[in-house]
Amino acid sequence: MGKILVTGGAGFIGSNFVRFLVESTDYCVTVLDKLTYAGNEESLGGLPSNRVELIRGDVADGLLVDELVRLHDVVVHYAAESHNDNSLFDPRPFLDTNVIGTYTLIEACRKHDKRFHHISTDEVYGDLELDDPNRFTETTPYNPSSPYSSTKAASDLLVRAWVRSFGLRATISNCSNNYGPYQHVEKFIPRQITNILDGVRPKLYGKGDNVRDWIHANDHSSAVLAIIEQGRIGETYLIGADGEKNNRAVVELILEHMGHAHDAYDHVVDRPGHDLRYAIDSSKLRVDLGWTPTYSNFEAGIKNTIDWYRENEAWWRPQKAETEAKYKTQGQ
Ligand code: NAD
Ligand code: DAU
Repeated sequence: MGKILVTGGAGFIGSNFVRFLVESTDYCVTVLDKLTYAGNEESLGGLPSNRVELIRGDVADGLLVDELVRLHDVVVHYAAESHNDNSLFDPRPFLDTNVIGTYTLIEACRKHDKRFHHISTDEVYGDLELDDPNRFTETTPYNPSSPYSSTKAASDLLVRAWVRSFGLRATISNCSNNYGPYQHVEKFIPRQITNILDGVRPKLYGKGDNVRDWIHANDHSSAVLAIIEQGRIGETYLIGADGEKNNRAVVELILEHMGHAHDAYDHVVDRPGHDLRYAIDSSKLRVDLGWTPTYSNFEAGIKNTIDWYRENEAWWRPQKAETEAKYKTQGQ
């Protein structure tokens, strides 16, 4: 089997994909990761050194990227600044990594004629009304709301342009909200779980009516592998597992499983420009590539995720105080 370069492979979803590759394929994996506040070498702990190598570096470093891309068969691009709240307070790193980083990678893939897969988000499509019967599809017009999602939209459009103008052998996937182990405590679900473990009440932005379409990170990884192996060059695939829930329902479920009253949470100041609802129609991926999610019991997935954070405090504890201090300055 070949050699895969996984950018952002020390982050939440990238490290899940690396573990998935090691368990279910023969690929040798190189991770290129800057190890920002969001990257954690320990998320790759225990993986065999003859299968996985970690290189600390920036996807916007043209010389490094050129050399690494030359040595690999496939590039899967997860690296990004990924958190909406951060993008509202300091957008610049989002432009550097998400836009210039993607440009740097696709230029190297063009030069060395390498297969490229771009990991993107459903947020590029903007949001839906709560009662809209439609869901996002591959033909929904782009309408991003935040600095984060607009830089992801920009990176998608660069990839599409490189396919059309230069014949880049690329595919794109846009996935909904992931959950599971190894997610940074700044994100909604791990923030609430670790707050409860610390005796702090969960914090809901605004009224908590906002809907996210949850998918377990393991299902995201199996979908990405299906696209790399069977996807049609130039195509976009939406990844989702029919997991729509509003934020209030998610917090109530977490509280219940952690032995607290279901309404033991607080409402805090809302996120500016907060997208109301995301919902994915993943029919194309299911019909054309035969993919189906296998972790679709959300309640069981949340229970396992709670257990993982209970048992892995050493992994998340070093990030917690700084994350909460940042939220405090934002009134959240
Ligand atoms: P994350 O923040 O947990 O991880 C991002 C990783 O990228 C970190 O390891 C970080 O160190 C690395 N990184 C950041 N800047 C870098 C740079 N300049 N060079 C090299 N490495 C760099 O993010 P995540 O939640 O795992 O998201 C991964 C990808 O999936 C992103 O592209 C994101 O847009 C996309 N995505 C995420 C979700 C979700 O729910 N989390 C859903 C759909 C798509
Ligand atoms: O849809 C895919 C996107 O999902 C990815 O592209 C992003 O990288 C990923 O971060 C995620 O974006 P969200 O903004 O939806 O995720 P977040 O975990 O920040 O928030 C989920 C929802 O929970 C959102 O409606 C905001 C709300 N929220 C969040 C936090 C941190 C709260 O109510 N309270 C909180 O404390």
